Amino acid sequence: MDKRISLIAANWKMHKTIGETVSFIETLQKEVGPCTDREVMIAPPYTALDAARKAMTMEGYKLAAQNFHWEEKGAYTGEISGPMLKDLGCDCVILGHSERRHLFGETDEMIQKKLAAAFKFGLLPILCVGEVLEEREAGRTLEVIGTQLERAVQGLSREESGKIVIAYEPVWAIGTGKTATPGQAQEVHLAIRQHIAALFDKEVANRLRILYGGSVKPDNVDALMAQPDIDGLLVGGASLEVSSFKRIVQYQ
Ligand code: G3P
Repeated sequence: MDKRISLIAANWKMHKTIGETVSFIETLQKEVGPCTDREVMIAPPYTALDAARKAMTMEGYKLAAQNFHWEEKGAYTGEISGPMLKDLGCDCVILGHSERRHLFGETDEMIQKKLAAAFKFGLLPILCVGEVLEEREAGRTLEVIGTQLERAVQGLSREESGKIVIAYEPVWAIGTGKTATPGQAQEVHLAIRQHIAALFDKEVANRLRILYGGSVKPDNVDALMAQPDIDGLLVGGASLEVSSFKRIVQYQ
């Protein structure tokens, strides 16, 4: 089995101006240097994508958008399409983040269309899945995540499925300071891999990178990354300061 290269991703949500973006990326690259044994991804707001692309000059740094619309073009006021993101030099796109699902009403069907469109327009999709607290407490975590996964990957080819990055973000851990324990995260990551193996096959599942997201901090990063099925992280709050994100990128 090929080794899965880890991916440490920053989701800045609705934070940072163009100037702040450039200064962050320049400082991070200066302090961390080029990355060959891991990938670093930054998802600034749309307004800073162009400046971020220009500031990313070192090997191993990838640019992501936080969302997009599945149509190529049309009368969709306020939306941005895949070709527009490619035009800006984006490598990846985050899909189905819980804030998109819960605050903006994104459904599994919309996320499935976005996933297919990401492949159509040459963007690497980072598909977010995760359960809310009541679902975890009711013992429904794996069922909920299984359903989200099945609906999202509908219609994808075997080859495409092996390329997706999945981010497991338990909704109760996002921005709350409550992190899933490394054991809780590993249990779900393993279940996701097994689920993909059942939907496609083992080889596809073994290629799949699965990130953990939800209150990742410098002091829990090493324990999370030590788990066999955690291939990277999707970091919100702790990715906004260079010092903490740098420490997360440099996990042991
Ligand atoms: O996408 C990252 C995310 O939702 C986690 O946010 O602030 O808990 O690290 P945070």
